This record gives sequence, C-alpha cells and structure tokens, in this order.
Amino acid sequence: MNILAVNGSPRKHGNTATLLKHALEGAGGTAAPGESADLRLVHLYDLQYTGCRSCFACKKLGGASYGRCAVRDDLGPVLAEAAHADALIFGSPVYFGDISGQMRTFLERLLFPFFVYDAAYSSIAPRRMPTAFIYTMNVTEEQMRELRYPAMMASIEDFVGRALRQPLTLRVTDTCQFDDYSKYMCECFDGEAKTRRRAEHFPKDCRAAFSLGAELVTSTKK
Ligand SMILES: Cc1cc2nc3c(=O)[nH]c(=O)nc-3n(C[C@H](O)[C@H](O)[C@H](O)COP(=O)(O)O)c2cc1C
Repeated sequence: MNILAVNGSPRKHGNTATLLKHALEGAGGTAAPGESADLRLVHLYDLQYTGCRSCFACKKLGGASYGRCAVRDDLGPVLAEAAHADALIFGSPVYFGDISGQMRTFLERLLFPFFVYDAAYSSIAPRRMPTAFIYTMNVTEEQMRELRYPAMMASIEDFVGRALRQPLTLRVTDTCQFDDYSKYMCECFDGEAKTRRRAEHFPKDCRAAFSLGAELVTSTKK
C-alpha cells in the first residue's frame, strides 16, 4: 500500500501538514498484518517548479510524453510517484478564497496530461486511485459558506474526480495562524478565541483527518 500526501502549505508544521500527517496515520492503521504501508508526505514548497507550460507534449500523438508531463523540474519524480500511488491525499490552506498557488500549479501539472482532448474529455490516468482533499482556512464554517468557498472546492474536486476519482473531503475552519496572537497585528481575530479553538477543536479535526485516511484506504479495497 503506497499512499502519497501532498502539502500545499509553506508551513511544515502548520494546520494542513498536521492534518495530512493524521490522515496518513489513519491510512497506515488499516494495513493488514504483514502488509507494508509506504506513507509519504511531500512538501510542495521544498520543490522548484512551474505550472503547466502549455507545451502540449502530453497531447502530441505518438510523442514520447503522451499522457505525461514533459516539463523537467523538481516536480517530475513527484508526478511519477503520484500517478502510480494507491491513494492520494491533497492538502491546501485557503489563500484568497482558493487553494494555494503551489497546490493549483501542482494540480495543473498532475491532471492536465491525463485529460484527452476528445468529446468526453476523458482521462487516460494510468490509475484511477481514490483521492482526498483537506482544506484549512481562517474563516468559520458559516463564513466559508457565505464566501462561497464550497463552489471553489467543488470546481477543483470535479477536475480531480474526472481525471482520477472523486475526492473525499475535509474542510477545517477557524484555524489558528499564530502560536501567540499578542505578538502580531491582528485586530480582525480574537486571539484568545483562536487559541481556545486550537486547544478544544483542532484535536477533533485531527481525528476527522485520521478517519478520512482510514476511509480512503478502505475505498482502495472496494
Ligand atoms: C497569503 C494568505 C492568504 C490567506 N487567505 C485566506 C482566505 O482567503 N480565507 C481564509 O479563510 N483564510 C485565509 N488565509 C489563512 C489560512 O488559510 C489558514 O490560516 C490556514 O489554516 C493556514 O494553513 P497552514 O497552517 O497549513 O499554513 C490566508 C493565509 C495566507 C498566508
């Protein structure tokens, strides 16, 4: 069992990375006795890469890169690993009402080569593995809905679903950005309420991420 989690936050110990680690633990916990679990967390911000360059080498009939990204940079090995994983878990903070630029750029490179320019816009991904998407954001659940973040999420999930498999999702709201809010200019948030939320609610979010990982692997066996 080979599960790849992809962190679209620059913070290696932030909300997104922490939840991804719990999701991997949940996935690993379902391994049968004797079954090896290869669980890997990739931090996109460690890598130097660009978005899709629109070279269309992935669509060139008879071309050496048909169905694969031809761009040579740090993302190449990760894309190859992702294409053959048993399951994929994407994690991104919400930046300006969207997934992070680094995650979007990664998804362009991962998914676009799989889409065939045929009438159905069909997928030639080598595997249609189960996927999950974990989002983290400052706003509350109510604000998330008012700001229509679910529509943004549905859009990206639709592309993932059409190329691979429809993602399971976890939306973690009202996250804590700072260890000590008193050290930052931050009038728009109640630092004490944020710190309390971190202590009282984030552990539940982590358990939800653990369950998501377990459910993801269960779905690989269906
Ligand atoms: C550049 C930037 C833009 C952000 N934009 C939003 C936003 O539009 N909506 C929101 O709810 N939170 C926003 N946030 C807050 C983060 O999404 C939130 O703190 C997230 O949980 C951070 O994840 P991390 O701890 O994994 O880095 C933004 C943070 C940064 C740094």
